Amino acid sequence: MKVAFFGDVHGRVVHALGAAVMLRKRRGIRLDALIQVGDLGSFPSPERLDDATRRFIVGNPAEGDFFRLLDPSPQLAEGVRSALEQVPAFLYVSGNHEDHDWLAALHQAAAAAVTPVDPLGAYRHVACGNVIEVAGQRTAFLGRIESDAMDYDRAAYETFLAAEPGSVDILVTHDGPHGLSEYRGILRGSPKLSRLIEHLQPRLHVGGHYHHENGPRRYGSTLSYTLADLVGAKTNHRTSEPVNPRQQIKAGSIGVLDTETYDFEYVHDAWLAEVSGDELDLAALVDAG
Ligand SMILES: [Fe+2]
Repeated sequence: MKVAFFGDVHGRVVHALGAAVMLRKRRGIRLDALIQVGDLGSFPSPERLDDATRRFIVGNPAEGDFFRLLDPSPQLAEGVRSALEQVPAFLYVSGNHEDHDWLAALHQAAAAAVTPVDPLGAYRHVACGNVIEVAGQRTAFLGRIESDAMDYDRAAYETFLAAEPGSVDILVTHDGPHGLSEYRGILRGSPKLSRLIEHLQPRLHVGGHYHHENGPRRYGSTLSYTLADLVGAKTNHRTSEPVNPRQQIKAGSIGVLDTETYDFEYVHDAWLAEVSGDELDLAALVDAG
């Protein structure tokens, strides 16, 4: 079976659906599951945005697409429905840019570890600390990041740290292991996550958060990969230089796992650039193939 993993979406939920449909079409593969590693950008209303997201949404309109999905136009609803005839709904874990209170309330109302967050059911949030079967693989979900301001859900982290080594096949996190890159002379990544991977020894770990492709890194019998962000900002917020003015999908933001061989491949295909725009027409993209 094939599982596709998607990096930080930051609101561009229509791009992610479009990229999944194109991946299926252009590779001619059936996708059995789609997993998104957090920073989906799930906020129920503009008033609930966090400060960073509120800043970025100005000048990056597609970062507000989660709101389009919550209250879809007939055309977008048709696009999402036809996309979901070709690819499964996304499962995703919390990043550090979500409305965590809203997500917790959805889980509470549903009394479930997995809950849809949009009316068409395109995105299903998995609460931290759960292991669910995805494409036949025991898949553990740990969202959020190691930081003073946020940190992992303590019970979830400790449950996984106490679990039997090898008892899960895939670990999905938002954060990445310690030492995966360097920024201004400081090593980035989560020491607590490195410790967890070294203990739990899943066959595969996938994370995001650092917005660049990194991997494979080996930890005992685990191969760990982090994904680039799916699209990112139009311009560099420090220098105002153009970075991704067309708002196209980035190489390295999607990875595909073959569960038979456990081969994991970053997608660098040229068609990624075709999934682009400030207001992506999903229905047209789905029809075009
Ligand atoms: Fe992010």
